[in-house]
Order: sequence, then structure tokens, then C-alpha cells
Amino acid sequence: MFQKADPKSLTLNPFSAVGDQWMLIAAGTPDRCNAMTASWGGLGVLWGVPMATCYIRPQRYTKEFVDGSGYFTLSFFDGKYRPQLSLCGTKSGRDVDKVKECGFTVAAGAGNAPYFEQADLVLVCRKRMAVPMDPALMPEDVKEKWYKGDWHTMYWGEIVEALEGRCAMDEAVAAIKQATRRYAKRQRTWFRRDGRIQWIDADGGDARAIADEILARLA
Ligand SMILES: Cc1cc2nc3c(=O)[nH]c(=O)nc-3n(C[C@H](O)[C@H](O)[C@H](O)COP(=O)(O)O)c2cc1C
Repeated sequence: MFQKADPKSLTLNPFSAVGDQWMLIAAGTPDRCNAMTASWGGLGVLWGVPMATCYIRPQRYTKEFVDGSGYFTLSFFDGKYRPQLSLCGTKSGRDVDKVKECGFTVAAGAGNAPYFEQADLVLVCRKRMAVPMDPALMPEDVKEKWYKGDWHTMYWGEIVEALEGRCAMDEAVAAIKQATRRYAKRQRTWFRRDGRIQWIDADGGDARAIADEILARLA
């Protein structure tokens, strides 16, 4: 469950969140989308609004989706999703269905932009400008170190929604109750199959009487 947040209230540190923990750039629609891992990008203010930037090389399949959409999303995840982020950063959506491989659930943000329910934080961005980097303006050492002619395109997206993967207390209580009931049901189904297990009705029973019954059965 996500809650809308004011971008100014976010506590994430962009240097570690993008650079170390990485993010997923996704675009398209929830029915047809693609996502790739990115560790380059930024958060700030431009033209008086909260703005995110990201940098995509021409060969990325995701670029086709970002170019063809008015919106893109940046999703940030807990460290336990590192394997999924590694997959999205090493496999192309041209070859594998990355959403399926990762076990992600796609949801729709503003502009029907796709994002992932497993994320902790999602920034839904309205694409405002896309500019291919100009190698003529690039320092020689950067060109040598980072490029083989595949200059990034820089994307600026106005952050129109910041969605935090947390919920109100009553929603959390309801979700925990539902998950616990489901878990208990699965356990009952599992244990019922095991003939060695003996069932004792403990509902509303007196603890002493229940203990006596257990002892009697063990005897
Ligand atoms: C940690 C990490 C960071 C990456 N950062 C970027 C990036 O900022 N820009 C980019 O174009 N590719 C980046 N990549 C590479 C793409 O994620 C990768 O090529 C991906 O497979 C492209 O998928 P696609 O073809 O489905 O779009 C990164 C990969 C990793 C593992």
C-alpha cells in the first residue's frame, strides 16, 4: 500500500539511494512496460518544481518505452531486492520478461505510468525534456572511460507523485490480520495431511483441562 508524500518530506539521500542502492527506471503502460536498473541520476529542482534526472544509453530497450511515453517512474527498493535489480541491470527486456522473472507486480501511477508494488518509494515523473549528450562538450577522459559512442540521453522528469510504500495504522492492522488468517489456513491444510498430528480443541478451553488431555494422549 502506497501513500502519497510531499517530495520535500522525503528523507532519501540521492547519492546512496541512486548511486549505491540503485533504482529501476520504468515506462510504458502497466500492460506493456519495461524496466532497467540505473545508478546514475539525480533529484533536485528545476523550473520551480521537484525534478528527477536519469541517463539512458541508446541501446537500452527501456529507452524506447521512455521515448514513447509522457511519463516514467523511478522505483527504489529494500536491499533484499538486490538480485532483482541486478537482473534488471544485466538482462534486456528484449530477451526476457523482467517483470515476470523478478516476480514484481505492476501498478499504475499518474499518466498510467508503470511502477512496482514491491518498491519502498516510487517517483512518478512527467517527462519534460530529453537531450542526447553532446560528445563535443564532453571531457576527453570521460569519453574514454565511459563511452564507445553510445552517449546517454538525459531525461528530466517533473516529480508529480512521490509514493511511499507505507500505510496508515488501520490499513496495516487489516493487512496483518488478513495475512495471518491466510497463513493459518495454509498451515491447517498442510498439517491436516500429516496423519501423525493429533488435534486438540483449545478454543475457550481451560488451560489445565487442555494440559490434562495432552498428558492423557501421551500416556
Ligand atoms: C548497477 C547498474 C546501474 C546501471 N545504470 C545505468 C544507467 O544509469 N544508464 C543506463 O543506460 N544503463 C545503466 N545500466 C545498464 C542497464 O540497466 C542494462 O543494460 C539493462 O540490461 C538494460 O535493459 P533493457 O535493455 O531492458 O532496457 C546499469 C546497470 C547496472 C547493473
